Amino acid sequence: MVAVLAPAAPRTSLAADVLRLKQERNAVILAHNYQLGEIQDVADYVGDSLGLSYAAQRADADVIVFCGVHFMAETAKIVNPSKKVVLPDLNAGCSLADSCPAEKLETYLHEHVEKNYYVVAYINCSAGVKALSDVIVTSGNAVKIVERIPRDRNILFVPDQNLGAWVIEKTGRPMDLWQGNCYLHMEFTRKSIERIKEQHPDAPVVAHPECTLAVRLLADEVCSTEKMVGYCRESPADAIIIVTESGMLHRLRREVPGKLFIPGPTDHCACADCRYMKLNTMEKLRAALENLAPEIIMPEAIRKRAEMPILRMLEWSK
Ligand code: 13P
Ligand code: SF4
Repeated sequence: MVAVLAPAAPRTSLAADVLRLKQERNAVILAHNYQLGEIQDVADYVGDSLGLSYAAQRADADVIVFCGVHFMAETAKIVNPSKKVVLPDLNAGCSLADSCPAEKLETYLHEHVEKNYYVVAYINCSAGVKALSDVIVTSGNAVKIVERIPRDRNILFVPDQNLGAWVIEKTGRPMDLWQGNCYLHMEFTRKSIERIKEQHPDAPVVAHPECTLAVRLLADEVCSTEKMVGYCRESPADAIIIVTESGMLHRLRREVPGKLFIPGPTDHCACADCRYMKLNTMEKLRAALENLAPEIIMPEAIRKRAEMPILRMLEWSK
């Protein structure tokens, strides 16, 4: 589930500082697949949101340095509250999480109380939204989890309309969808993907389910970032087009050497960087280890309410 990568031998003094501080502080570095390559190289675990949640839960170091975005670091704190969790840049947010503020969801649920919704929240949401939910899903387990929900319940899926639509396609289960999306995955278009396919006609296309239907229809495989590693390893193709955030290519090149990974382009960029993920840098990572800050802190009442649907997810996706 989680990629456990031995940190690469430090190539810069910055990397050496990070590895030394990590030991001194008894810290573990967890990094999402979208982080800068040099951050992935010093991390103890690199993976997708699901793998990182399990890694955070079982971390026994004093400090978790979470190299990812805010909702991921919050999830780490929720499942392992006795640890200090730090995020190198507290401004590393997520447009998808921002598209569903907790107050708005609470109002919506009050206004539609007759539906008695079973709320399924994609992990890309705030602790406040998790606290209002029945179960959390990631792109790696959403299909499996939705299939377990009693058939007589109305489902409200928040906040990603594209991932939600993909889960409906896969499960045949009707769901009401919150109209949120990831700004970055919306930038891949039918045209931009058709253009790269013309240049590499034999390369299969692998896309993240946060992409629009028009893009998903052009893909040979739609899956979470972690499942992309397995797909690429198993595929007989020696060139594969990867339609997601650019950090994924570093992980693939490191773990599946000898194949050509081609970044899926957007209409205006050859390679897609998430403006939030890329706020974390090696300098900020070193500072976070030095200062044990910025720290993730949340009210205990919210943490406790948010923990239940995450634990349900971790249990159901075993
Ligand atoms: P994964 O769950 O596949 O890691 O995706 C997280 C994410 O933020 C995608 O944009
Ligand atoms: Fe959020 Fe999109 Fe960035 Fe993922 S790629 S962290 S969904 S803004």
